[in-house]
Amino acid sequence: MIEKQDVQELFPTPLWIVDLKAAEAAPLNAKLKAEIERLISPRPKVPAGSNWQTPQDLHKRPAFAEFVKLVEMAGRGIARFLQVDHYPMVITGCWANINPPGAYHPTHHHPNNYLSGVYYVAVPPSGSRIQFQDPRPSMIMPRPRQYTRLTANGADAQSKEGRLLIFPAWVKHNVPANDGETERISISFNLMFSNFTETMASPMWDATAGKEKA
Ligand SMILES: [Fe+2]
Repeated sequence: MIEKQDVQELFPTPLWIVDLKAAEAAPLNAKLKAEIERLISPRPKVPAGSNWQTPQDLHKRPAFAEFVKLVEMAGRGIARFLQVDHYPMVITGCWANINPPGAYHPTHHHPNNYLSGVYYVAVPPSGSRIQFQDPRPSMIMPRPRQYTRLTANGADAQSKEGRLLIFPAWVKHNVPANDGETERISISFNLMFSNFTETMASPMWDATAGKEKA
């Protein structure tokens, strides 16, 4: 009766995972860590569960030039993958986070950007993860025997030193409390099309199509 049965995944949400070679990640992370610690020193007192953040202009500082190159390279690769590489993209903000044990990031997203990402400079040996939430509202959620990407309304990605994660800026995410005994250090950034208003923001449809022009 049935000739073929298939499943097509509609509107998938990509998460790009870029892992540096360990031999290259280690010296880069050592440099980044020293620079981030210098920027946050002396550390102001923060409430329990909170963290330290640097200014959001790290992409403009020479000490982060190598890191910026890495982000730009990854961004270009993604733009090619999505076939939108004919529009230039720039980093619009870049800042570091130091999360001591117990610190967490509540759910948020990054408006007015196309892509967002995070790079892990230091991760506690016990591990760490970032959680992403399904944006679709009012889901019917029967409890399956086992959750899969088709039935879960959240997904985790593992943090790892030397790992870069990039995702659409609209994806809501949070970072659970650091339950390790050492600090988790990460660098967050946003990417946006540099000439969005000039080249992309006009209507994608032609209002005059099929009509006589006045
Ligand atoms: Fe974020």
